[in-house]
Amino acid sequence: MKGVVFVALAEMIQNKYGHQFWNNVVSKSELESEGVYTAAATYKDEEANKLLASIASKLDKKSNDVLKIFGIYLAGYFNKKYPQFFSSDGFFDFLASVDNIVHVEIKKLSPDSTPPKIQTIKLSEKEMTLLYFSKRKLCPLAIGLIKGSSHIYGINVDVEHTKCMHDGHEFCEFFITIK
Ligand code: HEM
Ligand SMILES: [Zn+2]
Repeated sequence: MKGVVFVALAEMIQNKYGHQFWNNVVSKSELESEGVYTAAATYKDEEANKLLASIASKLDKKSNDVLKIFGIYLAGYFNKKYPQFFSSDGFFDFLASVDNIVHVEIKKLSPDSTPPKIQTIKLSEKEMTLLYFSKRKLCPLAIGLIKGSSHIYGINVDVEHTKCMHDGHEFCEFFITIK
């Protein structure tokens, strides 16, 4: 996973819970990187999994809940870092651009990145189905990113998780409704 994601996670944890909390999590996690991350580098997915487990246990939350909260934060972080990607007219146009514009540009900037495949099907002005394919199976992160980016477009959405890779499906399916 690219360093930018780790840098955003470190920022969120330090802002919300302080430096001491982050240092504690890092020392408990036995990380190859020792918890020092730079945006352009790439780190093992194992590091992310270890960090997530330590954060969740320290907060007495489920890893999936931490991942979703982080997804919401990450959308805001991406909006600050890459505002040009949020220039689509509407929220559904933005989601449709993630696969063929956003993640394509990310891949150009960082050829060693492996963004997931996203497919969108617009059903009406207020309803969309989004499919998420990735060997990482980070569906709660996807949900957080969808919710967080909806806030950037000044709206709120319901996200229903209608199929899941963790149940043996080839992809996760989300049914998104603009409230
Ligand atoms: C402008 C907005 C976005 C930017 C700049 C962005 C960029 C990135 C980057 C840099 C990664 C890490 C790739 C790697 O480490 O190889 C990533 C992964 C990911 N992106 Fe995006 N992304 C954006 C929007 C979205 C949205 C809206 C979704 C919602 C479905 C999404 C879903 C994901 C997921 C779930 C991952 C984790 C990696 C995986 O599942 O394999 N992204 N994205
Ligand atoms: Zn899923």
